[in-house]
Order: sequence, then C-alpha cells, then structure tokens
Amino acid sequence: MKMISRRDFLKASAVVGATAALTACGGGDSSSTASSASSTAPASSAPAESGAENAASGSATIGICIYQFADNFMTLYRADLEEYLGELGYSVTIMDGKNDQSTQTEQINTFLQQGVDVLIINPVQTTSAQTIVDTVSPSNIPIVFINREPDKSVLDSYPDKCCYVGADARQSGTYQGELILETDTQGDINGDGTITYIMCKGDPENIDAQYRTEYSIKALEDAGKTVNCLYEYLDNWDQTLAQQDVANALAQYGDQIEVVFCNNDAMALGALQSIQQAGRTVGTDIYLVGVDALADAVQAVLDGNMTGTVLNDDVGQATAATEATRLYVEGEPVEQYYWVDYVKVTPENAADYL
Ligand code: BGC
Repeated sequence: MKMISRRDFLKASAVVGATAALTACGGGDSSSTASSASSTAPASSAPAESGAENAASGSATIGICIYQFADNFMTLYRADLEEYLGELGYSVTIMDGKNDQSTQTEQINTFLQQGVDVLIINPVQTTSAQTIVDTVSPSNIPIVFINREPDKSVLDSYPDKCCYVGADARQSGTYQGELILETDTQGDINGDGTITYIMCKGDPENIDAQYRTEYSIKALEDAGKTVNCLYEYLDNWDQTLAQQDVANALAQYGDQIEVVFCNNDAMALGALQSIQQAGRTVGTDIYLVGVDALADAVQAVLDGNMTGTVLNDDVGQATAATEATRLYVEGEPVEQYYWVDYVKVTPENAADYL
C-alpha cells in the first residue's frame, strides 16, 4: 500500500498543530492559519543551491535570511517557507548567509534598503541577534526569528515587532534518550551496568545542540542509568565531519562504544557510514540516534540501520512562521513565541515520515 508522503502527512498535522498553538496562546485567527497551511498546492521543486530565489509577486514583500543553504534541514524548511508564503501571494526573496554573519548582515541591510514588509531570519550566529534587531528596529520592519533561538531579552527589546518560531530542543534530546531506553538492552549492550557512548555535536553556540546533548543523557540518568561519555565531538551539524570523527572513535574505542548520539541526522548518516565500514551492526552491537527525520535517516530507521530519529517538524515550523508573517503584514497581534512539537520516529512509525 502506498503511504502518503512525509510532506503531506506533516502538512495535515501542521494544520492541527498550528491551530492548537495559536489557540493556546489566545492570539490570532486560528481558522485562517488552518486554511493557509492546508492548501493543496504541490510541494515546490528542490530549491537552488545558492544565491537568491524569487516567487510570484504579491501584496507584501518578504525577505528571508537562511544561515546556510547547504544545511539539509534548512533546505527542507526554506522550501516550505517559499511554498506557503507564495500561496499567500507574497513576493519572497531568500538569501544564503553561507554560514558567515557578515554576509548575512549585508543581506539584511539590502532588504532594509529595499523596504521589505517582514524579515524572516535564521541567524548565522545566535549571539548576533541583538545586533540584528538594533539594525532593523529603526525601520520598524517586523522580524520572525526561526530555528536558532535568541535570548528572550532580544525579543523583549523589539516589542510587538519580533517573535521566535521553533521547537523545544530539550524535548528532542529527551526523545533520543528514550529511544535508547526502549532498546532490548536499554543501551547497555555488554551488560556491564553502564551505557558507554560518544556524542556528535552541532554548532556549540546553538541551543539545539546544547539541549540535545544535555537532555539525551539526562533521560538516561533520570531512568536510573549509569553513563560513561568517551568523547564529545564538535561536528557542527556536518555529515563529513561526523563520519571522520566516528571512524576515529571506532578505531580508538572499538567495542566499548555502545551508543552513538548525534545532535542531527546529517551527522548520524555520517556516523552510519563509519559504523558500517568498521563492520559494526546497528541494533546488534551498537545503537545510533539522530534528530530531524531526514528522508535518508527515516529510511535507515526502517531498514534497521538507525535505532531511531526524532522528527524536527519543518512543515509545522514553516506553517507557524508563515502565520506570524501574515499577522505582521495584516497588522494583527503576534505572539512572542510559537513552539512546534518534536515526534519520536521508530521502526514502527517511520513509514509515516518517509
Ligand atoms: C537541526 C539541524 C540544523 C540546525 C541548523 C537544527 O534544528 O536539527 O539539522 O543543522 O537546526 O540551525
């Protein structure tokens, strides 16, 4: 039987999620969120790898700054944004910050000169968010921050003109720990009473990386487990870096490694290559978890090559960011925060997320 696609499945769920979020916050018109999110327009084709993209012109112009087009998860997210904002008839331009804050700052200045109606910003450096607000606020252009959560003080410094759309990374970390606790050996493959692991971490400045690192292990400890961290690798969300580091770790620590935690799926896919090259077998002599539910990772979960992953709901977050943008365009009240839930992805439900 043909399953519905991940995007269609998430899109249907996003209608419910975004409506619930707005109802919970008591703001906005949730029914119009639902209708804009549930439009049946086909998914947009794969976005360009660099430079700017333009959609059809409409009643408002939206400038979007993505920290780096080469990021797998942000590629899904920006395709969703382009589609949903386009469905509202907005003119959308998306810029690639190329993982360089000064490049992104120039792009923001260009958008200010052009007089866009709303900015959607995925900062290169979260610590630059205050500078970004200070640059933008004299023009009174609203900002929707996405994916990289600034301090609350940053949002407070630009009241009613600035919000954050994201997911609580503590939840994703906790789910990673639970995925390990749900295995036959509860993570202790060699039965020595200790879960021995390595961790592949994302950008250290990013709260998602910090919380996933902390809460995946906290879930094990809260369940009464003893843990032993062999090494935490700084792999910056990057598949190739993780592949190299995990290859080195497997050579150095061998069978001591029972669990490989990765802050995202790109790194988990890199880890998987090295695990297989080292002749290890996920589910038998090692466990591997990621976050995002990228298609290749979900397939790996289905095939038994990853223990599990955690859905980082790009569709739900893009839906909420589109709704916040629409509210700014229409001059309606906007909440300060919009949160979208993560979902655990296991071999049992993985087919829903392909
Ligand atoms: C995702 C990562 C991505 C990062 C970019 C995280 O939420 O899980 O895959 O690289 O955002 O900021």
